[in-house]
Amino acid sequence: MRLTEKVHHILTNHLKEGDRAIDATAGNGYDTLFLAEQVGPSGKVIAIDIQDCAIRSTRERLESAGLIDRVSVVTEDHAIALRKLIKDDHENVAAITFNLGYLPGSDKSIQTRAESTEEALAASIQLLAPGGYLCVTAYRGHSGGAVEAETVGAFMRNAKKEGHAVDCHEPESSILPPILWVLKKS
Ligand SMILES: C[S@@+](CC[C@H](N)C(=O)[O-])C[C@H]1O[C@@H](n2cnc3c(N)ncnc32)[C@H](O)[C@@H]1O
Repeated sequence: MRLTEKVHHILTNHLKEGDRAIDATAGNGYDTLFLAEQVGPSGKVIAIDIQDCAIRSTRERLESAGLIDRVSVVTEDHAIALRKLIKDDHENVAAITFNLGYLPGSDKSIQTRAESTEEALAASIQLLAPGGYLCVTAYRGHSGGAVEAETVGAFMRNAKKEGHAVDCHEPESSILPPILWVLKKS
């Protein structure tokens, strides 16, 4: 099973009608679409991406699926956007997904970076409801990817010490496979 499928499998068993969820790296909107399907008509999804073209692509995907009414799109760095959501008391979120790196087929210099990713992960834990899930897929093959993946790993090991349940999934098949971290808030 690919890691994106694993994320969807884990969250299918967790998300329910009326939940709130956040896609912190919307990209082409595949994860946003999945979250929107899971939370149902009374749920809400916030899709964040730093690039206009990604947000346009996400919006189009959700419009085509007829699910845009339950999605708010935000063009901003996710660390900043998530901190604003904390200020607005937007808490009790059931799930937050991060699929790090760059948008396939787009400008590879626009990629997630260790420092803002770490800030965004810290904000995510605050936004989650107890029992809520934070799923982070990190890629190590591109420039900056290994450092970012190590930052995510350190963040997750520390979160485990603080009492959250943390699992790591690492496929065995390739030399530098992506890593999926799944945190369940205590
Ligand atoms: C691997 S793609 C995400 C793919 C997406 N999950 C999907 O289903 O299509 C990573 C995305 O992160 C976005 N990104 C990079 N830096 C960011 C940041 N600081 N804040 C928010 N998004 C960022 C990129 O623009 C890119 O669209």
